[in-house]
Amino acid sequence: MSASTYPEAYAEWQRDPEAWWAQAAEGIDWTRRWDRVFDPTLGAFGQWFAGGELNIAANCLDRHVAAGRGAETALIWDSPMAGAIEHFSYATLQQRCARVAGALAALGVKRGDRVVIYMPMIPSALVAMLACARLGAVHSVVFGGFAAPELAARISDAAPRVVIAASCGLEPGRVVAYKPLLDAALALATHQPEACLIYQRPALRADLTPGRDHDFAAAEAAATPHPPVPIAATDPLYILYTSGTTGNPKGVLRDAGGYAVALHHSMRQIYGLGPGDVFWTASDIGWVVGHSYIVYAPLLAGCTSVMYEGKPVGTPDAGAFWRVCAQHGVKVLFTAPTALRAIKQQDPDAALLRPHDLSKLEALYLAGERCDPPTAIWAAATLARPVVDHWWQTETGWPITAGFRGYGLFPPKPGAGGRAAPGYEVRALDDTGAVLGAGASGHLAIRLPLPPGCAPSLWQNAAGYRSAYLADFPGWYRTGDAGMVDAEGDVWVMGRTDDIINVAGHRLSTGAIEEVLAAHPDVAECAVVGARDAVKGQTPLGFVVLKAGVDRPGETIAAELVALVRARIGPVAAFKDARIVARLPKTRSGKILRASIRRLADGEPAAPPPTIDDPLALEEIANALARS
Ligand code: COA
Ligand code: AMP
Repeated sequence: MSASTYPEAYAEWQRDPEAWWAQAAEGIDWTRRWDRVFDPTLGAFGQWFAGGELNIAANCLDRHVAAGRGAETALIWDSPMAGAIEHFSYATLQQRCARVAGALAALGVKRGDRVVIYMPMIPSALVAMLACARLGAVHSVVFGGFAAPELAARISDAAPRVVIAASCGLEPGRVVAYKPLLDAALALATHQPEACLIYQRPALRADLTPGRDHDFAAAEAAATPHPPVPIAATDPLYILYTSGTTGNPKGVLRDAGGYAVALHHSMRQIYGLGPGDVFWTASDIGWVVGHSYIVYAPLLAGCTSVMYEGKPVGTPDAGAFWRVCAQHGVKVLFTAPTALRAIKQQDPDAALLRPHDLSKLEALYLAGERCDPPTAIWAAATLARPVVDHWWQTETGWPITAGFRGYGLFPPKPGAGGRAAPGYEVRALDDTGAVLGAGASGHLAIRLPLPPGCAPSLWQNAAGYRSAYLADFPGWYRTGDAGMVDAEGDVWVMGRTDDIINVAGHRLSTGAIEEVLAAHPDVAECAVVGARDAVKGQTPLGFVVLKAGVDRPGETIAAELVALVRARIGPVAAFKDARIVARLPKTRSGKILRASIRRLADGEPAAPPPTIDDPLALEEIANALARS
C-alpha cells in the first residue's frame, strides 16, 4: 500500500473533532454561520452546526451557476429501459428545480411540510427532491419496488401535503403502473395529501383524478421560479424509511447542515473526486446510497452525476456497466456487490468489457452488503483498478469505514470494510458493552457523538431512536452489525445481530415478511430466514406450519403466500419460496431457532442446541429443504 496520510488525518480529527468539522463546513455556503459547531445539549446525543442556516439545494446548484459553471454537466441520465441518454447542465437543473419548487409552493407546500416522492430513476425524481429542499420542505422518497401497503404506511407516517409520483416505472419485460399503486396506497393510508403531482412517462400515461392530481410537466411550465429558502442546519431535510425489526418501517431523519458538510467532505476524502469529475452510483434514489451519492454529494462537489435506469445484466447484457463507464467517462463507479456477482455469473471472463475504453475509470467502490472476497478479487483482476468495499447504513448517510482515495489509503483487505472515516470511532463490544480487543468479534458500535450527516433521530419517534440505537450500550450507537476491528484498525462487518437480511443490496426485515405470512388464514406459525444466494447474497425463505384441520393442497397455500408477500411488501422482497412443515424447531421456552434453520438452509450442519424442545423438528426442516 502506498504512503498514506490517513493516520495523520484520523489523529487530527481525534485531537479536535470540532475544529475538524468547522474546517470541513467551510466547503458549504451558509446563509447564517453556526453558533456552535457541536451543541451537546441538543437532541439525543447533541447536534451539529446549531444556529447555522443554509439551503442545501442552492449549495448543489445555484452556487455552481453563480461561480460560472452553469453550462457544465450536472447530470447524465442513461436509460436503456427508455432508450434515452440526456445531459442536464447545472443551469438547466437549477431552473427546473426553481420552477418545480414554485409549483409545489402554488400547491401550498412550505418550509417543514412533507412531500412523498414515488418515482423511478428519471431526472424529474432528482429535480423533485431538490425542489423540496429548495423550498425547505422535507422529502420522503419511496422505492418503486414496494407495494401499495408499504407506500401507504409511509404516507400515513410522514403525512405529506403533496405526493409526487410518476405514471410508471420500467422493469425488464414489464411496465410497472405506479399510479394505480398510488391510488391503492391512498385508499389505505390514514392521511390524505391535498394534491398529487403526476409525471407522465410516454410508456404509460396515467388517468388523473380531477381536483387532486396535477400534471407535473404542466405545473412546472406554469410555475413561477421559487428562490431557495434557508433552513436551520438542524432542520429535517428528508425522511427515509428503512426496515426495522418489525413490519413498521423506521423513518430515518436527516438534518440538513451536517449532511451537507459530511457529504461534501466525503467526496474529496473518500472518493477523491472534485468539480468536473464524473461519478456514477449505480443504485436507486429510493435508497440512502442514491440520496447521498446520486443526488446530493456529487452536486455539492460540482461533479457530474450519472443516473442509470437499467440493470447490470439484461439491459441489454452483462456489458452494460462497462458501456456506461466508457461512454460517459466515469472516474469512480459505486455499486453493490450483488450487481458484480450478476455480471460475473453471466460473463465470467469479462468478454463484454473488452470492447470498451475504461481508461478514465480509476476505482470501484462497493457497499450495501459485505463484498465476498471472490467477488472483490474477480472485480480487481477484471478491472485492474482498486476495488474498495465500504460500510455504511441508511442511518449514517455516508460511509462509516472505507478506503480513502483522498488520503492515498485504498483498497481495504478483501473481505474487510476498510478503516473508520475521521468522525467515527468504531469498536466491537461484548454483550455487556465492554470494548473488545483487536480481532475479537462482537457488536459493532460507534462512540457518541455520531459525526455530522448521521441521523439525529427517527421522524416523530425520538424514543424509538433511543431504544433502537442508544439504549443497549450507553455512550455508543449500536449499528446492528456484528464484526471485529483487527490490529491494523480494519473493520470486518460479518452480518447482522437482528432479523435484517440483505437481498440484492436491499435491506429487508424477516420479521416483516413473517407478519405477512402469519396474516394468511391457514397459517398457524412461521419462520423466515435469509438463505445464501449466489447472486443476491441472501434471499428470504419461509417455513410455515398450517392450522390444524387445513386440508387445502400445500402448493396452493405456498403460492398464495408468495403472492401475499408480493402484494403487501412488494416485488423487492424477492420472496419466492414458502415451505410447509409440520412443526418449527424451538427452544423449551418456545423461541424459534432461526439461526439453526438458517444454517440448514445454507447447507451447513446444524447440531440441535441443548435447549431444543424437539430435535425432530430440525429434521423436519432438513426434509423440507430436500424437497426442492
Ligand atoms: N420498481 C418496481 N419493481 C422493481 C424495482 C422498481 N424500482 N426494482 C426492482 N423491482 C422488482 C424487479 O423487477 C423484480 O421483480 P420480479 O420478481 O418480477 O422479477 C423484483 O423487484 C426483485 O428485484 P431485484 O432484487 O432487483 O432482482 P432482479 O432480478 O431484478 O435484479 C440484480 C437482480 C442483482 C441485478 C439487481 O438487484 C441489482 O442490480 N441490484 C443492485 C442493488 C442496489 O443497487 N442496491 C442499492 C444499495 S447500493
Ligand atoms: P442500508 O441501510 O439499506 O444501507 O443497509 C445497511 C446495512 O447493510 C448495514 O447495517 C450492513 O448490514 C449492510 N452493509 C452495508 N454496506 C456494507 C458493507 N460494505 N459491508 C458489510 N455490510 C454492509
